[in-house]
Amino acid sequence: MNIILLGPPGAGKGTQAQRLVEKFGMRQLSTGDMLRAAVKAGTPVGLQAKAVMERGELVSDQIVSALIGEELDAMGAGTGAIFDGYPRTAAQAESLDALLSDRGRGLDRVIELEVDEDALVERICGRFTCANCGKGYHDKFEQPNQAGVCDKCGSTEFKRRPDDNEETVRTRMAEYRAKTAPILPIYDARGIVTRVNGMADIDQVTAAIERALSV
Ligand code: AP5
Repeated sequence: MNIILLGPPGAGKGTQAQRLVEKFGMRQLSTGDMLRAAVKAGTPVGLQAKAVMERGELVSDQIVSALIGEELDAMGAGTGAIFDGYPRTAAQAESLDALLSDRGRGLDRVIELEVDEDALVERICGRFTCANCGKGYHDKFEQPNQAGVCDKCGSTEFKRRPDDNEETVRTRMAEYRAKTAPILPIYDARGIVTRVNGMADIDQVTAAIERALSV
């Protein structure tokens, strides 16, 4: 199965993608994570993307679609992909169709996480991840079982994203409304969109996604 998780910043795409990876052995393809890795490594893509990401604007369609193509090529043919944060524009949606069909894959489902924007700033500004394994946490909504120790790998190092501040989050939301939300009708026309209440608690959202994928 190849699926898209769609929703504004902080909707829970990354949180739910990690759970699907653990449960079904799918592969999470997060363009945000790929770009952050490129920034950290100081690659040409990273150098181009850094300032754009810090402003909360979108990186060029060509760059992100090329990253997705490389990841798809590196995956086993039988492994399902979870597109997290991609596509984000009509041009990227078009590229994804081509990238999938060139590799004999199709798009099975689009999960739209419906959320109340007012809650997202709190979600994003309270989020942190394990610096070693990348597991996501939240100051209020998903704390480690033992304070200061990662549940998954035992590391005691955590990090926060430089673009997780209120001003940048507002720009990211505006970008979502202007450029990403308008691509939903493309998938609605194909009858593959399931809308899930992203304001429910994390386990309930996971259960709703699993129901949508078993249809
Ligand atoms: P990206 O990394 O994709 O960020 P984003 O879309 O803004 O999404 P987030 O990672 O912020 O949110 P999420 O939905 O994954 O939420 P999460 O699960 O962490 O992109 C960053 C930047 O890279 C972009 O601004 C752009 O510059 C660039 N970029 C990336 N892709 C691009 C593309 N395709 N084209 C162009 N540019 C691109 O949840 C948030 C927090 O809430 C967590 O702490 C979590 O624990 C908590 N939480 C989750 N679900 C719930 C719940 N149900 N109840 C309570 N708390 C919850």
